[in-house]
Amino acid sequence: MADTENTLSMDKIVSLAKRRGFIFQSSEIYGGLNGFWDYGPYGVRMKRAIEQLWWREMVETRDNVEGLDSTIICHPQVWKASGHLDQFSDDMCDCRDCKARHRVDMMEDPKVCSNCGSSNLTEPRAFNLMMKTFVGPVADDEHTAYLRAETCQPIFVDFHNVRIASRQKLPFGIAQIGKAFRNEINPRNFTFRSREFTQMEMEFFCEEADSMEWFDYWKEQRISYYRGKLGFGDDFMRIHEHDKLAHYAKAAIDIEVKFPFGWGELEGVHHRGVWDMSRHEEFSGKEQLYIDHDNHRKVMPTVIETSVGLDRTFLALLCKAYDEENLGEDKDGQPDIRTVLRFPAIIAPVQAAILPLSKKLSDNARELYNKLNRYFRCEFDVTGSIGKRYRRQDEIGTPYCVTFDFDSLEDKAVTVRHRDSMEQDRVAISELRDYLEKLID
Ligand code: GAP
Repeated sequence: MADTENTLSMDKIVSLAKRRGFIFQSSEIYGGLNGFWDYGPYGVRMKRAIEQLWWREMVETRDNVEGLDSTIICHPQVWKASGHLDQFSDDMCDCRDCKARHRVDMMEDPKVCSNCGSSNLTEPRAFNLMMKTFVGPVADDEHTAYLRAETCQPIFVDFHNVRIASRQKLPFGIAQIGKAFRNEINPRNFTFRSREFTQMEMEFFCEEADSMEWFDYWKEQRISYYRGKLGFGDDFMRIHEHDKLAHYAKAAIDIEVKFPFGWGELEGVHHRGVWDMSRHEEFSGKEQLYIDHDNHRKVMPTVIETSVGLDRTFLALLCKAYDEENLGEDKDGQPDIRTVLRFPAIIAPVQAAILPLSKKLSDNARELYNKLNRYFRCEFDVTGSIGKRYRRQDEIGTPYCVTFDFDSLEDKAVTVRHRDSMEQDRVAISELRDYLEKLID
């Protein structure tokens, strides 16, 4: 795709996301804060739906994965042991002329400012990405703490507490969803690279001898999740096998998706060896070995990780769903363009909109809404012509609009309009819940 096309489609997505209440710039009235984003009314509905889908898939439907909700601020030694305090940095340089700051590995030509073309650049210097704060009333080195840069470290630290409390034996996993913070040098591409974001991570602890089998298993599980649940096909998703591995790792892949600005990492499935557990043993001075009572031996658990950003999943779904459909000419002879978000029903912020054809039917339609809202994410809308309401629902990605009309009073049936085909079915109110459930599942 040409550059201008890329920029155009991203601009359209950012503008729709704001207008329809998915994502806003944080602190906008103060000029915004670069790399921080707020989720509006539809955004938060969808974010929760993605989170719930992942949690259901990775924790609730498996008896060998436990959940955890740890603190954002941990003991600073956690980050010393993980290597973040010493190594979690990017090289940056500044342009002395236009004052732009660059991440060196992202510059097309590291000797030239991509903003103004000047070669008057500072020498690259390492910039640590951990966000600092202070715990307690004194702001000095002794009281310095860090906002977590990834959600997985507390999982390693809590491994034995979780294992004992849940009576799990190897192999088993621990999953967590939560905020992570990175002082990215160049936050960019909307929410793709933010400074505050949510991760969904699962660390699977197993024996070294079985670890490659588990790696293949989790890789396959995660790919089929994207194919089956989110509808990502080969034109939108690809697998990138790492050829350079960390010294402790045996294998690593990234699941990438096609954003308007190019292919980008969505999720990593990584073999982390015994690195994390050994480092926490070394730095805490507490033995982290797992006692295999059946075989009378001690083993250091090997870890397979699946790690995905919630905000990136959201952005991927938004980009994939965005469509402009040309429906011919409108009544004034102008092109009739329908903007539609073709979200999978399972994560759509509104799964069914209940629309009385006339305000006079509001009470009856609201009764139906109250019933359906217990089972699906629903919205009730009575404002404007039915055509305008359909278009509004198309723009927020509602897969089914349920219209209650005057005939509904007599035949006890409603019209269900399908977002993608715009086809309509007449469905008995008594069968509506089952009808929608089948479609949404
Ligand atoms: N525990 C491993 C880990 O954190 P990572 O590749 O740094 O690995 C995992 O991050 C995922 O978190 C990425 O694939 C991406 O989806 C998301 N992520 C990372 N940095 C991000 C950022 N600055 N903004 C939004 N999402 C980010």
